[in-house]
Amino acid sequence: MKLGRMNHIGVATPDLDASIAFYRDIMGATDITEPFVLESQKVRVCFVNTPGENGTHGTQVELLEPTSDDSPVAGWLAKNPLGGQHHICFEVPDIHAAKAEFEAMGKRVLGEPRIGAHGTLIFFVHPKDMNGMLTEIMETPKEAH
Ligand code: CO
Repeated sequence: MKLGRMNHIGVATPDLDASIAFYRDIMGATDITEPFVLESQKVRVCFVNTPGENGTHGTQVELLEPTSDDSPVAGWLAKNPLGGQHHICFEVPDIHAAKAEFEAMGKRVLGEPRIGAHGTLIFFVHPKDMNGMLTEIMETPKEAH
């Protein structure tokens, strides 16, 4: 496993618009992307960009609101009604190599690599195999950050 940049922290919310207002008005975020629906995960998503070096953006907060009761995030919110940290996402240079490495270490990879909210291939690793943290592994986008 070759650990890359921490791409984002996934935060579940019961109310995406209220969370956007929180990051804008309370936290002073000035760069928040337009929400869109990620059908495959049944969530409405947007990104809060934190400032990075040299005018680039740094690590993101990924806000996730379920769009239906059978969304994976809906089940999580049922147990955590205020919302909160849902997962953490690290980049890797090669998604298929990373999957094989996690599996060789006995970690439960949840499904095949698929296109995630950033348009690159991702998979999740079971929190019980990751010290309690649902972990998203994402192939580094080809364009520079
Ligand atoms: Co994510």
